Amino acid sequence: MSTNTYKSGTTTLIGIEQPETLRAPEIEKGVGCDFDNYLLVPDNTLDERIATAKAKLGKDVVILGHHYQRDEVVKFADFRGDSLKLSQQAAEVDGKYIVFCGVHFMAESADILRREHQVVVLPDLNAGCSMADMADIGQVEACWSELGGVTDTSKIIPVTYMNSTAAIKSFTGEQGGSVCTSSNAAAVMRWAFARGEKVLFLPDEHLGRNTGYRMGIPLDEMIVWNPFEELGGNTEEQIRKAKVILWKGYCSVHQRFTVEHVARVRKENPGIRVIVHPECRFEVAQAADEIGSTEGIIKAIKASPAGSQWAVGTEIHLVNRLSKELKDHKVMSLDRSVCVCTTMFRITPVHLLWALENLAAGKIVNRISVDERTRKFARVALDRMLALR
Ligand code: 13P
Ligand code: SF4
Repeated sequence: MSTNTYKSGTTTLIGIEQPETLRAPEIEKGVGCDFDNYLLVPDNTLDERIATAKAKLGKDVVILGHHYQRDEVVKFADFRGDSLKLSQQAAEVDGKYIVFCGVHFMAESADILRREHQVVVLPDLNAGCSMADMADIGQVEACWSELGGVTDTSKIIPVTYMNSTAAIKSFTGEQGGSVCTSSNAAAVMRWAFARGEKVLFLPDEHLGRNTGYRMGIPLDEMIVWNPFEELGGNTEEQIRKAKVILWKGYCSVHQRFTVEHVARVRKENPGIRVIVHPECRFEVAQAADEIGSTEGIIKAIKASPAGSQWAVGTEIHLVNRLSKELKDHKVMSLDRSVCVCTTMFRITPVHLLWALENLAAGKIVNRISVDERTRKFARVALDRMLALR
């Protein structure tokens, strides 16, 4: 296995810290990168070596870990959280190196928010997000121009979910919009409607619809924009009438939860409460008792009385952790088949060790670097969100 490059919007994420003179084909091959040797590290030595490398780096390193990370990785995180909490941490932490155990849009956001002297590292560059990749900047620009042929785009405020490329965040910032996460989507939508008449919500159809509906926007005033169809598959009249234009993107993990799962779990466990992530489909969110971001799910379950039973519609690593840690509660997955985010799962203890030992040896690997032009307006969009706290 070799470390490779990952193209994300306008950002090239490079597998190794390379001298300016290194040519692209050499970068592709991962010259100078000895990740392969790490595949032979015995499992029973990983923890100790990670701890030693981390201790050697001391205050120079800060490890951020998303709730969907494996236990073996997240236990080394200095800060654990949902996308919002981790972006706030990224903007505030002091370490020289921010090692992001999450997926690339999170690391990109950290790179946009970091201070001048800091460097962001993603231990495996293949840790992407299929939803974020569903909105390509070319498609979004084409959508904006098509919308401009039908309605006044100065009255449309783009809102992009954190799960989007830096290029989409930059577009959003430049067009007067903001980033949101699953824990502040309603606040950001309210902010947007105070400034415009319509919202273009990118790239998660479900988060946009679930949020809009809870704010009182009728379903027939929220249309879906399919980037592969003319006018997104809508008539001019539908576009003019719409309050929210939802990009046709989704999370393959959260799409799997169904209303049948909700009915079954209630039948088999009388009294159980169902809580789902807002990336779930509208019908599932409607059928659930509660909706919450990863942080919101944790808080809701922890705040419930001892003995409470919960069926949780989100990624399995978080559900299993809650089930193990909250001994006074009964926590299970809403879906019996395992819902893993395969890209979050790509960050293994071996990747973390490789990144940390290289940093401790003075070599930066898997640096995430957003170009200056993209960073400028992406930062504007992120700052608008962070100012809403
Ligand atoms: P949170 O913002 O709730 O952490 O969600 C991020 C994510 O990718 C969920 O799929
Ligand atoms: Fe992306 Fe879904 Fe994984 Fe979240 S769970 S990182 S939205 S693929």
